[in-house]
Amino acid sequence: MIGGGYVGLVSGACLAAFGTDVTIIEHDPARLDRLKAGTMPIYEPGLEELVTKQRQAGRLAFSDDLTAALRKSKAVFIAVGTPTRRGSGHADLSYVHAAARAIATHAPDGLLIVTKSTVPVGTGRQVASIVREARPELTLHIASNPEFLREGHAIMDFMKPDRVVIGLEDWPDAPSTARTLLEDLYAPLNRPESRLLFMGLESAELTKYAANAFLAMKVTFANEMADLCEATGGQITDVTRGMGLDPRIGPHFLTPGPGYGGSCFPKDTQALATSARQAGTPTQLVETTIAANEARKRRLAERILALAGDDITSCTIAVLGLTFKAHTDDMRQAPSLTILPLLHEAGATLRVHDPQGMDTARTLLPDGIIYAETPLQAAEGADMLLVLTEWPSFAALTPAHLASHMRGRLILDCRQIWQKEDWQDAGFDYHCLGMGR
Ligand code: UGA
Repeated sequence: MIGGGYVGLVSGACLAAFGTDVTIIEHDPARLDRLKAGTMPIYEPGLEELVTKQRQAGRLAFSDDLTAALRKSKAVFIAVGTPTRRGSGHADLSYVHAAARAIATHAPDGLLIVTKSTVPVGTGRQVASIVREARPELTLHIASNPEFLREGHAIMDFMKPDRVVIGLEDWPDAPSTARTLLEDLYAPLNRPESRLLFMGLESAELTKYAANAFLAMKVTFANEMADLCEATGGQITDVTRGMGLDPRIGPHFLTPGPGYGGSCFPKDTQALATSARQAGTPTQLVETTIAANEARKRRLAERILALAGDDITSCTIAVLGLTFKAHTDDMRQAPSLTILPLLHEAGATLRVHDPQGMDTARTLLPDGIIYAETPLQAAEGADMLLVLTEWPSFAALTPAHLASHMRGRLILDCRQIWQKEDWQDAGFDYHCLGMGR
């Protein structure tokens, strides 16, 4: 497994749990040292325990020696980063190409090379050409096996997937070697609901982007309906329940929020839009989704300032949640990174708390923001409270808790974590996205 990042670590540890011997290759010496010492570089529930158990069982190892690892491997997975290239919507494939070149140097005959990183359509074939041009004498097999893990639920998602997408070169006439090897790797998932879906390389690559873009559109649609509910007196929870019971729509990913973020939706929608433009078939829906999501974060900041009133410089706003969603320490593309600087610039005093993201937030948010160790410390003396993520520890706070700490009674809950009536009854001026009247 080349790459000890989020995808490589989770996939490597889970494949080891399925009974495969896995070596995770990590080139960053600091990260490798941490991994060898048993410390996870990311927060993911259950990951540290899983890694420790698999290492103790002798099925999982960390190394920087790709040559030695390839010597004893039948398959190699590429699980390196594909960030957005600066100044363009393109995915930066330099790490994928470097991994392909490194594999080419040391590949044994018969090796199966699997791309797990999220990559634009056509990348699997690029990997194939890089390796084959360097080693024309070898028989090599190429596959694409995108992951569908959600941060915060990644182990569960890997262990109980609703599908495993596998793209093979020359599908449907591909030699059986690659297919059999991948079926063996995923054999413990041999349940009817954990379908292995075989298809061509391009289809597998596109499936990953299409799934993420569709989910991003779904969230964005729910956000727009929430705005419409507020303007017209509707209740978004009723509307989405009524929509979601239609099995053609489904109930998931219809909860309005401050805009989607994270390391996947923003990057993958950009990359899909770019691939589609390059292919001469631009996708207007995805391009509009990207623009709508960006605008939403700025509009939310304007709304907060309007709620806070004219005297913003004497207003203290408590903010609960900084990461892009709950159950993660990931600050990448978090809505807080757009919203908080705008509030700060306008002169508001910000007291913030996040259960996992504060160390990174300190390096990304403007100076002068006050970081509190607990939600109640953040609320201390605040005129307004803003909920940006849905951690259970925030949902557990009651009006009595906050009334004894806040100076004001104004709340904007952007994640529907509380019941409006409870707060109104306790004398709070409670606002929630999508709840008109
Ligand atoms: C997403 C996909 O859900 C995974 O299937 C995929 O494997 C992963 O990207 C990836 O490509 O690696 P993740 O980025 O962990 O997973 O986050 P999600 O749980 O999907 O949430 C994405 C964003 O949408 C978050 O900002 C979240 O707060 C927001 N969201 C989600 C909503 O605002 N409302 C919803 O109803 C659902």
